[in-house]
Amino acid sequence: MPGLSLPFEERYWPFFKYREACKRSRQDPEAFWGEEAGKLEWFKKWDRVLEWEPPYARWFKGGELNASYLCVDQHLTGWRRSKVAIYWEGEPGDTRLLSYSLLYREVNRVASVLKKLGVEKGDRVALYLPMVPELPIFMLACARIGAIHTVIFSGFSAQSLADRMNDTGAKVLVTADGGFRRGKAIPLKEIADKAVDLARTVEKVVVMKRTQQPVSMKPGRDFWLDDLLKTAETLVVPEHVEATHPLFILYTSGTTGKPKGIMHSTGGYMVFNHSVYQWAFDIKEDSVYWCTADVGWVTGHSSIVYAPLAYGAALVMYEGAPDYPEVDRWWEIVEKYGVTIFYTSPTAIRMFMKFGEQWLKKHDLTTLKVLGSVGEPINPEAWLWYYHNVGNQRCPIIDTWWQTETGSLMIAPAAGLDMPPLKPGSATFPLPGIDADVVDEQGQPARPEERGYLVIKKPWPGMLMGIYGDPQRYQTAYWDRFKGMFFTGDYAVKDREGYFWILGRSDEVIKVAGHRLGTAEIEDAVISHHAVAESAVVGKPDPIKGEVVIIFAILKADRVPTTALKGELAEHIRTAIGPLATPEQVYFVSKLPKTRSGKIMRRVLKAIAMGVAVGDLSTLEDAASVDEVKKAYEELKKEV
Ligand code: WT7
Repeated sequence: MPGLSLPFEERYWPFFKYREACKRSRQDPEAFWGEEAGKLEWFKKWDRVLEWEPPYARWFKGGELNASYLCVDQHLTGWRRSKVAIYWEGEPGDTRLLSYSLLYREVNRVASVLKKLGVEKGDRVALYLPMVPELPIFMLACARIGAIHTVIFSGFSAQSLADRMNDTGAKVLVTADGGFRRGKAIPLKEIADKAVDLARTVEKVVVMKRTQQPVSMKPGRDFWLDDLLKTAETLVVPEHVEATHPLFILYTSGTTGKPKGIMHSTGGYMVFNHSVYQWAFDIKEDSVYWCTADVGWVTGHSSIVYAPLAYGAALVMYEGAPDYPEVDRWWEIVEKYGVTIFYTSPTAIRMFMKFGEQWLKKHDLTTLKVLGSVGEPINPEAWLWYYHNVGNQRCPIIDTWWQTETGSLMIAPAAGLDMPPLKPGSATFPLPGIDADVVDEQGQPARPEERGYLVIKKPWPGMLMGIYGDPQRYQTAYWDRFKGMFFTGDYAVKDREGYFWILGRSDEVIKVAGHRLGTAEIEDAVISHHAVAESAVVGKPDPIKGEVVIIFAILKADRVPTTALKGELAEHIRTAIGPLATPEQVYFVSKLPKTRSGKIMRRVLKAIAMGVAVGDLSTLEDAASVDEVKKAYEELKKEV
């Protein structure tokens, strides 16, 4: 058929904005991204759009800007000055509203607090906070003075917090007395105290009051934010930072036990986010944008803080649990603030499906224009439910594929350019400037409908700068698998029309309720328990959460497998990593199935956990014989 070798968007698409943008980005990527960068305000223009020395991309080198200036100051000169920047809703029902001018005031005061504590450009500041306005305020305050923030999700344990602070060498930790979750006050300061005891570099701790619960304060080290604010200045001139100055470090799980500190630049990250939120969501200054993620994940960094504020939009931020005090809490919030763009995860959608449509019917959701999905593959059933019941068949579902590493959306329907015909379960096409493809084991383009690996073939401005303190791992994790291509770790297929379907991780990373966890990280936690000799962790498909954690453990010779020990082990993992890693099931076994080279055969374990046959063995990755695998499977099945 003539034209079949052309990219999809040139063959069928009747619209031309997306097509035009893709064409320009392909013909001259530097000119394309230079034009996009020109839409932001720079203190100094860049010398070069891209300096690409694989695997390092330096975007907009020589340019100077400030992310806090872009998100706050630039809105003060016009009418946006007195428009809403943040609608905040606390779990108990208290609210806070910040206009751009109030946000400006708070960001400046907090920046002054940080400076007085001795924080300088390039210093790392750890933020361990609940979902309160102070979290974006501290992020923007760090950006203002050129400090690098590292946000640690408030569900992480003391150990996880300490590991991250040690890895970044954080000088200051910002936390709260506590945070509200499902009616309970989580003792954040208490957890933070344990972490600081293990942290080698933290000199000062700033504590904000949220729950008013009693906490212990160590003189000379711990300071109440309220006290520090009393003497704060109201103007801190934003630092002119280089485009390649790191804006933040955010940890994410990989295939080893140690999480990776993903480092993002100021210039590339801001330019990329600014462009893609318009392309995918059609975000504007009058949007009321609600992303339900926690700021502790990259989704929160980009979709709660940096992108909506760069547009002068209003963002909605909610502190607590989605089903508290009733399961219509989210829909109540949508109605109350007139949310226009709503962005959530498939896990949340599946949970609401279970609760039933009657909870939605109680609320007026007609302000919604665009619905987004992120974090894990969305099954067509959940997609259709979302489309019919939340969007009332009026709103497109923008399924966005991206990662902590990519900085922002990569594959998604471009609602802000021309909407492609949607297919439930497909993130559709790469956004302009993104050269994504699906390749086979050898790195050759996969055939249509053939499962392969998702790769990115050209650098893009939101690309990570590297892994903090570990250039070797940056090289091996992303660039060694396929020469000259960024390896995403995901399986994907392209259908005959070129639509991308993301199938999930190809590596030892699992996604529990959209949260990324490394099986090796959990295994390390399991074997740190005194009763355990060896362990293997797998993800098991789950109808709501996507995947759940299943643990196989071999106990030490003198230990007796009991139900109590299972509970103890689950608790041990919660303390080591955090509640998100809590196992669904713990199996005590006497042997783990391994290949000849000693690699654990996770496929066998997964089949056992799922109660299904081990399946097609013709494509065994390693040298183990089919018979061996079958034998291991049969033996283990008897045990669990
Ligand atoms: C992994 C990245 C992107 C922000 C939140 C997650 C999976 C993400 C989708 C999607 C299918 C998706 C991938 C990816 N993923 N979005 N729309 N469809 N899978 O960031 O924690 O770095 O996780 O999430 O497996 O590699 P993250």
